[in-house]
Amino acid sequence: MKRAIVVVFAWVTAWMFVPFTAFGTGGPEPDPPPKAKTVAELAQRYDSSRCVECHEDIHDQWSESLHSRSILGSPRTAPTIITAIEKGLKRFPYSGVKEDSDITVENLMMCMKCHLPQLDEATDDVAREIVATIRGWMKALGNADDEKAAELERKITSLNIGCTVCHNKMALIHKYADGYPQSDTVYGSQQGDHEDEMYPKMAEAPAIGESIFCGQCHGEGPNFELDHPSQCATAYGSYLFAYVAHGGDESCQDCHMRKSELGHNIQSYNDGTMIRMALDVDVKGRSLFWRKNKEEGVLPIGVINVELYNKAGHVIPDG
Ligand code: HEC
Ligand code: HEC
Ligand code: HEC
Ligand code: HEC
Ligand code: HEC
Repeated sequence: MKRAIVVVFAWVTAWMFVPFTAFGTGGPEPDPPPKAKTVAELAQRYDSSRCVECHEDIHDQWSESLHSRSILGSPRTAPTIITAIEKGLKRFPYSGVKEDSDITVENLMMCMKCHLPQLDEATDDVAREIVATIRGWMKALGNADDEKAAELERKITSLNIGCTVCHNKMALIHKYADGYPQSDTVYGSQQGDHEDEMYPKMAEAPAIGESIFCGQCHGEGPNFELDHPSQCATAYGSYLFAYVAHGGDESCQDCHMRKSELGHNIQSYNDGTMIRMALDVDVKGRSLFWRKNKEEGVLPIGVINVELYNKAGHVIPDG
């Protein structure tokens, strides 16, 4: 009898640990991939067009989002990267940057940490090629050379936050517990074989459906881990400290992907659905006559009471 109890106990304790071991959907830290030497090589490594064949709807949605042009932006981001170089890097006495030819991957990480995290897999030449491409594009726009501008714009947008940035590189957050992303696996909510040649496996990313996943790039404040902290997006900080702290219980994915029904076309104020989800606006007005003073006498005035209630999960606008 005692033996049976021991066996049962051992069985129960073994199951208690299963969830933890089964969570290890990643694996040991792999050797870093060889550094990409050109923009084309880095773009190829993270090319989303290979996923179109089987995930067409998701690919179409993603193509509409700013994630698909994350260093071009609206297109305000690319020129702002140049401003950060001219007004920041080149003026700071200890940045080591006097000319474009001095720019390194590490320098650009003050933007690319979030706008293009895979740049850490490229050589400094790629960082310089990006800067030269943006300059060429701005010049072509200035010269009204539409063809050249369009060509360079395609090159800029070939680098982006594509499928495998989210479903591989950034997919696993707690790497000591869940492991490091493996180069043959796409991470989502399922486990098993995956039909793609380059990614023949799929595995679970425990937090990909949670806000912390988006929080990796959507900012809490200054990026203190950098030698020169930068600050851009702060939506995740606001979400944690203003929304969750006041009882908010929805995730980024709940509002931006599911309730909005936009899926991978993750949007904000440029989209009608998101605008309608953003604010409750209550406007009340009345008119009356008001005796102001002896000189001006009785005046007709209007009183307009505007109440705005922010229904988003963070401050708006951000940044
Ligand atoms: C790898 C970093 C990264 C991850 C992960 C990420 N984002 Fe983004 N996101 C960005 C960047 C960078 C931009 C802005 C690109 C630009 O315009 O320059 C952006 C843009 C957006 C925008 C549009 C903002 C606007 O001004 O219109 C929304 C909304 C958004 N992301 C929500 C999300 C949500 C929700 C998630 C999680 C499911 C997520 N993002 C995950 C980096 C990321
Ligand atoms: C902590 C991550 C992070 C860092 C670091 C970062 N950004 Fe951003 N940036 C974002 C995200 C996310 C968005 C879009 C969402 C938003 O507006 O909140 C954004 C938006 C922008 C926008 C407006 C987007 C548009 O399309 O109009 C510009 C411009 C921009 N970033 C430039 C930069 C530059 C230049 C740097 C470096 C000096 C930088 N960012 C550093 C995450 C970051
Ligand atoms: C900004 C990060 C991000 C990018 C880029 C991204 N995904 Fe996703 N993807 C997610 C998140 C988050 C979920 C989970 C959504 C949820 O929990 O509802 C998801 C879910 C999925 C799913 C599961 C089915 C579904 O519709 O929810 C598939 C398949 C998928 N993505 C494929 C892709 C492909 C293919 C691309 C490129 C075209 C892509 N994803 C780009 C973040 C991303
Ligand atoms: C030859 C077809 C094919 C190609 C190419 C393909 N996939 Fe898939 N993928 C599938 C199928 C089928 C599933 C399983 C769908 C299901 O059961 O819901 C799947 C599942 C996934 C999932 C897991 C979805 C979840 O439930 O969370 C992700 C993530 C994903 N694919 C990403 C990608 C990415 C990224 C690419 C491009 C690198 C890609 N796929 C290319 C067929 C393909
Ligand atoms: C309760 C729903 C809700 C939640 C939760 C939520 N959002 Fe939003 N978010 C919205 C709505 C609605 C908008 C559109 C308002 C606007 O942009 O003016 C928006 C706008 C944004 C913008 C654009 C901000 C700007 O400058 O106007 C970004 C970026 C963003 N969300 C990212 C996130 C991220 C990242 C998370 C999770 C940390 C998140 N959101 C959680 C509803 C939500």
